[in-house]
Amino acid sequence: MSITQEGVKAALAAVVDPNTNKDFVSSKAVKNIQIDGDNVALDIELGYPAKSQAGAIRNAVVDALRGAGAGNVSVNVVTKVLSHAVQRGLKVMPNVKNIIAVASGKGGVGKSTTAVNLALALAAEGASVGLLDADIYGPSQPMMLGVSGRPVSLDNKSMEPLQGHGVQVSSIGFLIDPDEPMVWRGPMVVQALHQLLEQTNWKNLDYLVVDMPPGTGDIQLTLAQKVPVTGAVIVTTPQDIALLDARKGVKMFEKVGIPILGVVENMSTHVCSNCGHVEEIFGAGGGEKMSADFKLEFLGKLPLQLSIREQTDSGMPTVVAEPDGKVAGIYKEIARKVAIKVAEQAKDMTAKFPTIVVKND
Ligand SMILES: Nc1ncnc2c1ncn2[C@@H]1O[C@H](COP(=O)(O)OP(=O)(O)O)[C@@H](O)[C@H]1O
Ligand SMILES: [Mg+2]
Ligand SMILES: [Zn+2]
Repeated sequence: MSITQEGVKAALAAVVDPNTNKDFVSSKAVKNIQIDGDNVALDIELGYPAKSQAGAIRNAVVDALRGAGAGNVSVNVVTKVLSHAVQRGLKVMPNVKNIIAVASGKGGVGKSTTAVNLALALAAEGASVGLLDADIYGPSQPMMLGVSGRPVSLDNKSMEPLQGHGVQVSSIGFLIDPDEPMVWRGPMVVQALHQLLEQTNWKNLDYLVVDMPPGTGDIQLTLAQKVPVTGAVIVTTPQDIALLDARKGVKMFEKVGIPILGVVENMSTHVCSNCGHVEEIFGAGGGEKMSADFKLEFLGKLPLQLSIREQTDSGMPTVVAEPDGKVAGIYKEIARKVAIKVAEQAKDMTAKFPTIVVKND
């Protein structure tokens, strides 16, 4: 018995990717089908990094094709991250496919902790990732990624990113004395950040995670208008006051035309490190309710847990300190949802149009 192209497609139209909830045919993930008698080889091309998912996806596809009468089945699961559209009037950076802003209405809610673990989780799933620490007044990524030293410049104009746990990183913290108080005014801050973004030689990034300065004032607004962002992730704690600030953050991004990829609730329940009992110190369910109110995706929630603070503040964020632990699993799931949300955004078409040259002769 031999199998046909149509038979292969019919079989795969019934296999749903549990990450996107779409079947592989309608999501156009099936590529390069090759049939030889009853043997089938094909690629499954995903729009999001999925190292931890590839095995299960391959098995599901093999099972479906065997069920449809195929003999030997060879499935190659690959990821192709595309560039997606940014705010009108801005250009996608040539070496950075997608910029993801991680923001919160106020400081201390765990924005930097979320940003670094999100970046590491995307990298762990196989993506090429950078992290830009845009918190000029309180840079924390050098400490969180355990990276120090000064970036080198090979051309006296731009600087090489430093590396921490496989992620490229740039931070004002590498350029200034951490004990020197920052007395810069708004426009200088914006200029410094623009330089950090554009003068760092990012190496072919799928995602650049930006740890935004906290708040929704002029600096944040200007950044949201100037940095070409694919989408924003909002971090909040569950209590009312933080949620109020987070709502302001959502409004700000909507105003400048940046899609919100979703909401992360941080410090949602406290797990006692002695006895493991669970306490809702900052209340419960606030992030979920806010997501529902604004019709945003709820990406996940992190417990308030001593190990998260200890690991992240000592240069070994949880995703690398305990990569197979429960908390890392939550960060990886959030990262997957973020990457899938990015993949669902409109594609960047600017690169598709040829430059028009007007000649006067
Ligand atoms: N889920 C959590 N559990 C325990 N500690 C946390 C958690 N999230 C963040 N922290 C800690 O809280 C402090 C503030 O977090 P940080 O990420 O620096 O906040 P922000 O960037 O919003 O100001 C840090 O010491 C961090 O390690
Ligand atoms: Mg911070
Ligand atoms: Zn206890």
